[in-house]
Amino acid sequence: MTPLAIETQLAQAGCRRDPHTGALSVPIYQTSAFAHEALGHSTGFDYSRTSNPTRLALEETLAAVEGGHRGFAFASGLAAIDAVLRLLPAGSRVVATADLYGGTFRLFEQTARAYGIEALYVDTSDTEATRRALREPGVRALFVESLTNPLLKVADLPALLEAAREGGATTIVDNTFLTPCLLRPLDLDADLIVYSATKYLAGHNDVVAGAVITRTPAWSERLAFQQNAVGAVLGPQDAWLVLRGLKTLPLRLRQQGENARRLAEWLAQHPRVKRVHYPGLPGHPGHATLARQAAGFGAMIAFEVADAGRVPAILKGVRVFLFAESLGGVESLITLPREQTHADLPADTLDRLGIGPGLLRLSIGIEDVNDLIRDLENVL
Ligand SMILES: Cc1ncc(COP(=O)(O)O)c(C=O)c1O
Repeated sequence: MTPLAIETQLAQAGCRRDPHTGALSVPIYQTSAFAHEALGHSTGFDYSRTSNPTRLALEETLAAVEGGHRGFAFASGLAAIDAVLRLLPAGSRVVATADLYGGTFRLFEQTARAYGIEALYVDTSDTEATRRALREPGVRALFVESLTNPLLKVADLPALLEAAREGGATTIVDNTFLTPCLLRPLDLDADLIVYSATKYLAGHNDVVAGAVITRTPAWSERLAFQQNAVGAVLGPQDAWLVLRGLKTLPLRLRQQGENARRLAEWLAQHPRVKRVHYPGLPGHPGHATLARQAAGFGAMIAFEVADAGRVPAILKGVRVFLFAESLGGVESLITLPREQTHADLPADTLDRLGIGPGLLRLSIGIEDVNDLIRDLENVL
């Protein structure tokens, strides 16, 4: 049979999992343990930290749409990233995107460092600089965001993954901003994909969740051990919410991407806006690279206001955008990265990266784009 399109796979995710009743919606198996008929007769489920049928429905869906060997659902995106970093041998150096999500930076600096992992930060949109970093002694992995947070820089993923592989480094792609609808990193031979499933995958700003998708059985075995041994798993109710959100991911992303394009074009011509970072604009430095490797430009925008002194009034004045620090949901959010998502980076690093006091990040939702434009017009 011809493989099913991602829209079909996601719309019907979990629908055929309950042979007893035929329930279309995968049941929430709210149980900690599973009874055995006799010694040696397991249903395949023993204890919900190890595996739970609702979580498994989500994990299998993620593996299928990514073309991976297995999916693993975690309590948060950071728990997922932590589990992956713990697979690296102590003493490993990891080449990592310089403008990483602030929480991932904090994880590298204040947690992973303690178990012997050192990050080497590099502008991963600079392919030559990343290749050089990959040749540094002790480098065992590459950790790259497929679209960076908050500056929306684009890495040439095929080139970087090939360079990492040649040097024997494990490749980890945080695909939170693009999702499997727009980019499938395993098709480019990445080893592991990580997600904050809190964002587009769940899509409704109602759950915190994370995921890892593995390419090979060897990685799956090690990650399954880690997931069970540490236990930062996603509960069945939250797994159900992510699965329910996933069903409409392609539709949501289409509307969000179209709204983002319209809004970015409008911002780019606004006299009070100094600069717009949106890879869908032809003038963005990563536009051509992303057009080559992905099926869309996502729905995140960052922009710099000409007068940073107006930022407090903008954040207080918005009536449609919500001033909050997440992204990827159906509701549009506005964020001040320097004070919120990236507050854990040192001030000089923020200055060097260009995450200044006038940089605002927008997560574009599914509202009517004219309402979003009018809202920004009023506050700008
Ligand atoms: C790109 C990226 N990766 C990882 C995370 C962490 O995910 P979570 O907040 O679900 O722990 C975030 C959170 O904002 C993110 O934006």
